Amino acid sequence: MKISLSPATPEAWSGSVLALGIPENDPQGLVAAMEQRFSLQLSDWLKQKPFSGKPGDCVSLPLLRSDCTALVLVGLGEASSVDRDRLRLAAAAAARAAQGQGGTLGLLLPWSSDTPEEDAAAAAEAVRLALYSDERFRSKPEPSPKPDQLELLGSLPGGLSHGLEAVHPVCAGVELARELVAAPPNSVTPAELARTASHLAHEHGLELTILERSDCEERGMGSFLSVCQGSDLDPKFIHLTYRPNDAASKRLVLVGKGLTFDSGGYNLKVGAAQIDMMKFDMGGSAAVFGAMRAIAELRPAGVEVHMLVASCENMINGSAVHPGDIVTASNGTTIEINNTDAEGRLTLADALVYACKLKPDAIVDLATLTGACVIALGDEIAGLWSGDDSLSSQLEMAAQAAGEGLWRMPLHSPYRKGLKSLLADMKNTGPRPGGSITAALFLKEFVDAGIPWAHIDIAGTVWSDKGRGLDPSGATGYGVRTLVNWIINQANT
Ligand code: BES
Ligand code: MN
Ligand code: ZN
Repeated sequence: MKISLSPATPEAWSGSVLALGIPENDPQGLVAAMEQRFSLQLSDWLKQKPFSGKPGDCVSLPLLRSDCTALVLVGLGEASSVDRDRLRLAAAAAARAAQGQGGTLGLLLPWSSDTPEEDAAAAAEAVRLALYSDERFRSKPEPSPKPDQLELLGSLPGGLSHGLEAVHPVCAGVELARELVAAPPNSVTPAELARTASHLAHEHGLELTILERSDCEERGMGSFLSVCQGSDLDPKFIHLTYRPNDAASKRLVLVGKGLTFDSGGYNLKVGAAQIDMMKFDMGGSAAVFGAMRAIAELRPAGVEVHMLVASCENMINGSAVHPGDIVTASNGTTIEINNTDAEGRLTLADALVYACKLKPDAIVDLATLTGACVIALGDEIAGLWSGDDSLSSQLEMAAQAAGEGLWRMPLHSPYRKGLKSLLADMKNTGPRPGGSITAALFLKEFVDAGIPWAHIDIAGTVWSDKGRGLDPSGATGYGVRTLVNWIINQANT
């Protein structure tokens, strides 16, 4: 999709679909202007349709004219309360209304005079992400035409195209994450994730190291390796690196949970545990892959970025971990596996130990770690745990700017006693109450004191059953935009 600015007014613009954001009471009289332009009795027509400019209102009128085939009106709510998130949702609604039509989509929104660049980029991102569809697994893909050009109307500064440069790299990252998450577990395996990494390395000039099972054994990654004992598929420990052209003053590490399927192991997922959805248990790795793809294209200066994914499947056979087994992680910590379904933290433990050896300035991990986080925050907000206030607020700001929900949760150390084991250094699972907090406290044990670290639990946000905002139903690609914003901000400070 080509994105450009158009100086045309809505009265004069021509193309395929003209979409206008209208605040309540239509202060600019846009509806009347369109009535005039298209000789329509719009107001009569709109009486039949529920359109009052409230957020979420959206009507589409076929015009059957050569200069404009359809007019779309999107409600923005009270004019004084229109913010960037509102613009994002309106742009996404306009894009969905334009689906089914090819050609050019013209979009007019009330860009803020302070930050027109950010607003325009957010709207363009929203349009591309809302038009995403996934036909990879159908025998007869259903081609649905969509606009191949986006023209942003209204008073936007001419030199703005610079601000729009990041839109495509970032959206390509989000779409990569969505594709990886949505793909079934017989398609995205640990080996397939490794191939994706190798493809990214070749296409975008990243460095790649893959540790095979024997390499992980040599490094003593007994915690990670215990998880895939019952799987027929080999584990892959994936390490991708982005290095800027000139010297880097900061080194950041992204860690993603990469369970390509989580059956629960002998603590098998039964009942309401949604075993059939557990292909999305590599959502953390998908997010860090997507972020690396975007960063590799944007090539920020001054910052070196490492991505680590300890990928495997949690399955059952005669070699699988028994509930009660004791294993040793690569930092020497012994772990009693009292629940084989708390496997993500076992893989992350060895990845975090490896991350610390890189002596980074910060580590951020993303993981579909706990059902408890979904119960606490639902499917629109991810949980953030960190002992570092500065890193926390950096991530909160990055998420806010991305329009991704993120809420800081307590890393409440007294709950650490819930992980005490009679025999080993610790158990992998604490009591059910506060389950996402003990999960975060478990991870903390594998991070060297003094290295700023944050954990983001995306168990709820990785998938959307009904679709929401910019996300069609299915995999959301959550986290990519937050991570990219954070890295770019780090590069600039
Ligand atoms: N992958 C799951 C977490 C999950 C559950 C993500 C539901 C999305 C939706 C994780 O490996 C898991 O099974 N966690 C257990 C931990 C428990 C055994 C302490 C959970 O949350 O039930
Ligand atoms: Mn599990
Ligand atoms: Zn899991």
